[in-house]
Amino acid sequence: MSDKADLLWGGRFKSGPSEALTKLSRSPEYYFDLAPYDIAGSKAHAHELERAGLLLQSETEKMVETLEQIDLEYRAGTLKAKWGDEDVHTFIERELTERLGDLGGKLRAGRSRNDQTANDLKLYLRDQSRKVLAQLLLLQDALVQQAAKHTETIAPGFTHLQQAQPIVFGHQLMAHVQAFARDISRLQDWDERTAYCPLGAAAMAGSAIALHPELSAKELGYTAPCENSIDAVASRDHVAEFLFVTGMLSVHLSRLCEEVCLWASRQFRWVNIHDSYSTGSSIMPQKKNPDIAELTRGRSGRLIGNLMGLMTTLKAMPLSYNRDLSEDKRHAIDSVETLLTILPAMSGMIATMEVNVDELRSQAPEGFTLATEVADWLAKSGVPFKVAHEITGNLVKYCEEKNLQLWEVDDQELIRIDERLNGDVKSVLTLEAAIKLRSATGGTAPEQVQKQIQNMKVVIESQKNWCEAYAGLRV
Ligand code: ARG
Repeated sequence: MSDKADLLWGGRFKSGPSEALTKLSRSPEYYFDLAPYDIAGSKAHAHELERAGLLLQSETEKMVETLEQIDLEYRAGTLKAKWGDEDVHTFIERELTERLGDLGGKLRAGRSRNDQTANDLKLYLRDQSRKVLAQLLLLQDALVQQAAKHTETIAPGFTHLQQAQPIVFGHQLMAHVQAFARDISRLQDWDERTAYCPLGAAAMAGSAIALHPELSAKELGYTAPCENSIDAVASRDHVAEFLFVTGMLSVHLSRLCEEVCLWASRQFRWVNIHDSYSTGSSIMPQKKNPDIAELTRGRSGRLIGNLMGLMTTLKAMPLSYNRDLSEDKRHAIDSVETLLTILPAMSGMIATMEVNVDELRSQAPEGFTLATEVADWLAKSGVPFKVAHEITGNLVKYCEEKNLQLWEVDDQELIRIDERLNGDVKSVLTLEAAIKLRSATGGTAPEQVQKQIQNMKVVIESQKNWCEAYAGLRV
């Protein structure tokens, strides 16, 4: 049996909680790492109590100073929660009262763990999302730098995992960069919606003591307090949205990883992964495996699972606060920590990846990737595309039968396949010509890809500035 004196709610109970209850109810160890955010909220609340006349200025100063000391010790690793501390809020309040006596016990007026826990997690997510983004932006840098080296490197482009049309390899890399840039922008949008402070909601009806939540909100870097105290303690859609955005990010990562695995295979031979970012086999001495790509691809399952887990917890939960909500942190913290582990490995792997330019070029025309050029050439000379497609199909069939490339068919033979074909078509049957023609916005022409890279550099710069401009607590 645990000691009921350690609890924030022991008064009306004759006995302390059973060991089984403590084990179920106590927060997981890593949840105590929200201590710095909890302390920031407590300092803001001390200021509220002073404004409300419940603390003298000297008492507030003493309380803030002691909270800061607890923060320092916790961060230095010299202070740990005890088994009897049910959660991070209990832990900090116990420390405070042990150090300040009755004064420490004053901090609880006008607030509840319900608004505290909502606040802690919001501060954590707003801070950590910037850390995740900073790492993702390093991956963006690595991808953009590789792309810039390969704006003229001709490669086969794929649909259905079959060779489709020639592209430059930088174009393919930039497609991944575009997706990640949207993930970042989604997190920026998420932050704008999330930046409302739950403090002042207290248990659920609002506080009768903390009457200036707008000042606490400002102190903690939020836009404003939440408009509805019930919503403030009951809602977790911002956590679910965070898990969606990071889940989507992990899906984007997994698609890049899948390609890296293919590219690094002996069948493709497009890239060599640096030794320091690959692993070997315990039995097959020749092996060099793309483990970073595989682990990242695998962990996307966890990130998607975290979203599903929280959504399922939230479904049909009555308002306002219910203990089910304490599940939120498991999912959120796991997604943050997983990404903070994955992303540095990914950016190192991409930055050091060596691209086999000659191999890419020699594979680019395989599978008749220039066939669209024939159809386009016919269409430009007035043949309806439906017919042009058919004629080109016949040409491809002929080449397949004779084991020829499109440009190897002699001029008479072209006319025999269809009178609207002739030797002039060969002027468009080079990789360079096909690429050069795709010169509109978004196309694979080298100057367009260079333009895309320039535009993206501006986006990345502004996203980096956004990460750095955060006004709330950084741990
Ligand atoms: N530790 C809880 C959580 O993670 C907060 C405590 C609120 N508990 C309560 N009985 N009202 O959400």
